[in-house]
Amino acid sequence: MKKILILGGTAWLGRTLCEHALGAGHDVHALARGSREFATGVEPVIADRTLPGAYDAARGIHWDLVIELTRDPGQARGAVEALAGNAGEWVNVSSCSVYAEQSTPGADEDSDVLEPLPPETPPDDYDYGRAKSYGEQVTMEARGGKALVIRPGLIGGPGDESGRSTYWPLRFAEARRPVLVPNDPGNELSVQIIDVRDLAAFILDAGLAGRHGYVNAVGEQTTLDDALRMARAAGEGDRHPSSGPEPTRPFVPYDLGRLEADDVNVWAGPRSLPLVLPPGPEHAGFARRSDARSLAMGLRRRALRETFADIVRAGPAGAVVPPKSGLSAGEEAKLIAVSSG
Ligand SMILES: NC(=O)c1ccc[n+]([C@@H]2O[C@H](COP(=O)([O-])OP(=O)(O)OC[C@H]3O[C@@H](n4cnc5c(N)ncnc54)[C@H](OP(=O)(O)O)[C@@H]3O)[C@@H](O)[C@H]2O)c1
Repeated sequence: MKKILILGGTAWLGRTLCEHALGAGHDVHALARGSREFATGVEPVIADRTLPGAYDAARGIHWDLVIELTRDPGQARGAVEALAGNAGEWVNVSSCSVYAEQSTPGADEDSDVLEPLPPETPPDDYDYGRAKSYGEQVTMEARGGKALVIRPGLIGGPGDESGRSTYWPLRFAEARRPVLVPNDPGNELSVQIIDVRDLAAFILDAGLAGRHGYVNAVGEQTTLDDALRMARAAGEGDRHPSSGPEPTRPFVPYDLGRLEADDVNVWAGPRSLPLVLPPGPEHAGFARRSDARSLAMGLRRRALRETFADIVRAGPAGAVVPPKSGLSAGEEAKLIAVSSG
């Protein structure tokens, strides 16, 4: 049994990490303010990391593994200053957003990263990629390189509050037809979704195994078209043909050249087509990051169709209402009318 401290641990990935570590029989402590429930079996360490003394209750204890989830440079620095010397292993959960450019398909971990964002930066100048870059840097410096920096790509699965991985399977699971689907005839658009449960297992296993350095953690690369096909299979399940005839018009293809004219967003957020990447060469490497190092380190990934099937099984109850990403029924209907006309 290992003694593990998760800095965070009550939101989506953090909670999944706690559950996974508890399931493996470890002694799991999570440090957070307690604005959400801690997983049953976790030892809560209630603290506000913006206040002095936030790490006092965790200081002086030997942690076999510390896992840091913060997006805040000051919190990343405060944690390593207080705890780095007492931790056997340290994992910093970073992001593929740290990379300075997203234009090269297959780019690996040696690619340049964004300039780190200093903790003293005014809140208005906050930049997520640069903040994570600082977290990486301060961790590696404090630990003399003896830390593992894991850079996830898009994380998906049941409970995804961003709605990016849940929109399509849940939309196909609705009886309402037709569904507006992005049309990508050249198969130029790519998707890489890592299941939150596979990511949690990898973070824990690689951390406890004492791996060090930088590693991407991305899903298997697939075309958007194939991803949508899998989402449809998961969403429709065995509904057709057993529950009636196939609708005459199950889909309406959406011409992505119309995005700007129709004021439709890509990737995420309101009035969006989730998972669709912005056009242009600067995103040609996005969702096409190298996964070679993570696979060599032991990352195991379930098939995307399983992730989608579990999202459908969890249903809308497992998603945020109203969804943070996608089209409302009214927005979709208007775009269908325009696309059909
Ligand atoms: N979603 C993606 O596709 C994606 C992609 C790449 C990387 N990532 C990374 O993956 C991780 C996601 O982690 P997550 O899902 O667990 O969500 P999260 O939003 O990073 O969780 C934040 C955690 O920190 C705690 N916290 C926040 N402010 C605090 C404070 N002032 N003092 C103490 N605790 C505080 C929160 O609990 P309280 O509010 O109760 O304090 C919560 O437990 C992040 O590191 C993110 O950058 C995400």
